Amino acid sequence: MIITIDGPAGAGKSSVARALARRLGFRFLDTGAMYRAVALAGLRAGVDGSRPDAWARLAEKLHIEVDGNRTLLDGEDVTAAVRRSDVTAATRYAADNTRVRDRLIELQRRLAAGEDVVTEGRDQGTVAFPDAQLKIFLTASPEERARRRLRDLQRQGERPSFEAVLADQARRDREDAARRVGALRRAPGAVEVCTDGMPFDAVVDCLVELINAHRRATHDE
Ligand code: DC
Repeated sequence: MIITIDGPAGAGKSSVARALARRLGFRFLDTGAMYRAVALAGLRAGVDGSRPDAWARLAEKLHIEVDGNRTLLDGEDVTAAVRRSDVTAATRYAADNTRVRDRLIELQRRLAAGEDVVTEGRDQGTVAFPDAQLKIFLTASPEERARRRLRDLQRQGERPSFEAVLADQARRDREDAARRVGALRRAPGAVEVCTDGMPFDAVVDCLVELINAHRRATHDE
């Protein structure tokens, strides 16, 4: 069974999807971490943002592994490094690149083949897994999302202002919506869940209930 969770930055997708996968005993695919790993490798190699072919060639060479908790780049644990702000800003060079997207989607499909998977990102229900059994569109208001992102960054020792986080998030929302391929859209048939004011466990419970309802409905067919 494949469950896709798509939504904007800061909606809580990663933590919710990870907890959901644990509850269900499913594999968890953090596809944002894959784009982040390409961005980190590009920054380290000094790849020019205006050279899409160089980014594509780089992505084709990289060995990226995501096991649900850790992100490995050519065998190195880059779980923390890929969350840095400079890497976040550079993800657009990977995410806006059709060849990089093709490569990562192929990897995502390979990892999901024959498995029970919760996968999260921007295009999981629309492009990567259009036949997924259950699609969730997870959202929250811009202010709530920025508050969560600020807390995450503070935990990592960064000290940006709330306004800076909000502005950066608005820019990423625009990039996600405008992307030529893999733009953030609610997939046809996706269930929208707005998490404003919902405690974390309540969000996970809500998704478990949606899955149980889906299982009952398909069992009764
Ligand atoms: O969810 P995140 O913030 O870790 O995602 C990092 C970047 O990767 C974000 O700018 C959008 C992009 N992304 C994407 O284009 N497609 C995905 N399936 C996942 C992430």
